[in-house]
Amino acid sequence: MRSSPWRAVGLALLASLSGLVLVLRARAEQPRREAEQRGLRLRMERAVWLHEATDHGDTARLPTLPGSPPEGSRRLAVEVSIFNPRAMPLEFSPGELRLSEGRTATEWRATTDVSRPFTLGPGELLFLTLGFDVPRTPAPLRLLWARGEERIALLATRRPLGAEAREPRGWPESVGELPAGSAGSGAALYDRLGCVACHGALEALDAARVGPSLGAFFQAGSTRIAGLSAAQYAYESLLNPDAFIAPACPGGQPCVGPSPMPLYGEVLSAQDMADVIAYLVTPRTDE
Ligand code: HEC
Repeated sequence: MRSSPWRAVGLALLASLSGLVLVLRARAEQPRREAEQRGLRLRMERAVWLHEATDHGDTARLPTLPGSPPEGSRRLAVEVSIFNPRAMPLEFSPGELRLSEGRTATEWRATTDVSRPFTLGPGELLFLTLGFDVPRTPAPLRLLWARGEERIALLATRRPLGAEAREPRGWPESVGELPAGSAGSGAALYDRLGCVACHGALEALDAARVGPSLGAFFQAGSTRIAGLSAAQYAYESLLNPDAFIAPACPGGQPCVGPSPMPLYGEVLSAQDMADVIAYLVTPRTDE
């Protein structure tokens, strides 16, 4: 069973202050996206939960990662950049990065084949993609960088529910299998379902308060996960908000997981879902 406190949040409460307070508390514990330790600067570039083979029939979304996660595991693919600003070479070991489940103190190291330490020359910048295979666990996870005494959190996330999230309601895999959506009805739903409280109005790019502004989503949505259209990505985000945490939230901050988005898949009809998505992906001409 899911343990997200957001399950319990009724739609009527969405726009209420209690939601915002919880979100703000999550913010205060927000992981740093960039950190410097023992000479090296590390930056979280991207983190994506890869789909299980049974989900979509396609495992590899980041082709640089060899193999597929073992049965029952999900792979978090993480791309970091590492920079050596010093005038001397410095060593970095991928083992410095761990995915940690706070409650049980379980840690996972990257399971991909780059495991040996390597040296970064002076001024060298390197991009590294690592995969962490995580067994079924609904607990919040943090990506930690342990290099000095401090263990710096770079990312907070949660293993996505994947196929399990769709099953109770039997949502189809592809957004194309939903009924045809009406952007006009979607606009009304966007207000009524409380999207506007967190994301702001689509016409007002700066109005977002908690979630990313969605005014440019019709374009940006298709760039989030390679191979997913904006509509498919919006669909998966609504069914399973933690599958991928959006990169930029208001105030120039990266968004943090677990996502505060309610599980709309449990409350929306297929028609409402199609309408909201149609509204989000309709090209806009105003700025
Ligand atoms: C309680 C606040 C909240 C509500 C209500 C909410 N969202 Fe979100 N939403 C967020 C946050 C925070 C994120 C960024 C974290 C993530 O990726 O889940 C997000 C992410 C998204 C994304 C991905 C955006 C991107 O740029 O990648 C989409 C699409 C989205 N929401 C659509 C909706 C829609 C449609 C509704 C209403 C049906 C809605 N949201 C309701 C907070 C909210």
